[in-house]
Amino acid sequence: QFLPTLDGTQLLTVEDLADGETLHPVQRALADQHGSQCGFCTPGMVMSIFAFAHGPCAGSASRAAIDEALAGNLCRCTGYGPIVAAARAVGRPTDRFVAEAADTSAALAALPADAVLIEHLGRRFFAPRTVDELASFLVEHPATILGGGTDVGLWVTKQHRRLETIVWLGRVAELARIEEREGTLIVGAGATYAAARPWLARHWPDLDPLIARIGSTQIRNVGTVGGNIANGSPIGDLPPPLIALGAELVLRRGGTRRILPLEQFFVAYGRQDRGPGEFVEAVRLPLPDPADRFACYKVSKRFEQDISALLGAYRLRLDAEGRVAAIRIAYGGMAGTPKRASAAEAAMAGALWNEATVARGVAALAEDFRPLTDMRASADYRMQAARNLLRRFLIETTQPDVETRLQAAGGAG
Ligand code: FES
Repeated sequence: QFLPTLDGTQLLTVEDLADGETLHPVQRALADQHGSQCGFCTPGMVMSIFAFAHGPCAGSASRAAIDEALAGNLCRCTGYGPIVAAARAVGRPTDRFVAEAADTSAALAALPADAVLIEHLGRRFFAPRTVDELASFLVEHPATILGGGTDVGLWVTKQHRRLETIVWLGRVAELARIEEREGTLIVGAGATYAAARPWLARHWPDLDPLIARIGSTQIRNVGTVGGNIANGSPIGDLPPPLIALGAELVLRRGGTRRILPLEQFFVAYGRQDRGPGEFVEAVRLPLPDPADRFACYKVSKRFEQDISALLGAYRLRLDAEGRVAAIRIAYGGMAGTPKRASAAEAAMAGALWNEATVARGVAALAEDFRPLTDMRASADYRMQAARNLLRRFLIETTQPDVETRLQAAGGAG
């Protein structure tokens, strides 16, 4: 996390929790339940349980809720049982943070709400407050646009890149807005995964377990929908479903806007259709027809906290005779960009939605994709899995009684 992004927030670390010699109830519970072995993961576990115990699910003994709260921490000693027991034992603590919450909120609200510009040795960090300030600044200054920093942070910590000018979107309230208007869901580029999740899940329930598997609670609280698109990763989790759902991007430069179908934004690996000074302002999604069927499936080596090896997303509309009136398919991890399976779609368009039709779509995937082998999966694995996911979509849309999804411990399919 870039230091200036903490401006205007309260920062609590594990060192803040104990009250003198008295352990915080979360620390006490972890000790009582023997939830710390080598101790490497313990500070993260403590802070995750602390946040959980002060959040909306506080007091819940649900294993799924606890798993989701802890999923950002890997315990190399694998002592998860006692850690989960500690999270359960804490319940909803009354501590000095609860007692001081109103005063803390008031103090934060009283801070100045101006744009922040920090300059030092020729490097700049700018945090605008309005989209207009952001747009004007970007026209005049080449800059790295920073959303949640889940990608840009790694440029610095892993690649040691020197960023001369950073523009941070985190204080632009308009960019975080989400609204439904005239049959369209409009998600501001600065909306976090956590904020967008209930809006998206309401219309497309499969997006709920998908977003639950993006990073962890901490990452979903800062990572943004716009950032997941604008960074152009071929394995970002949101672009394939958004492409399948017919999303459009609103791109803005200065006072000028243009609308682009999302799939056209991804030109080639590492290259997007975004000019100098231009930024992603919002994503627009047509609300679904009640007859639409939508599914998306993420394949990764580990269920939680992992990057996709591939991800398939499917939207289908049948006519009254059961023929394919419209189908959109998109995959991540199968090419240098998130990409539509146009040949597969064409092979199935207008035909009865059945095994023979899907077999043609499955065969056509070889025209659409030449996947690569890398550390996450081999090319053959990717192609086989992509084919099987399309077959699975057929089963799920035609045989509702067939159990196609294993339930993880957390309950997500
Ligand atoms: Fe050792 Fe979790 S207690 S890594």
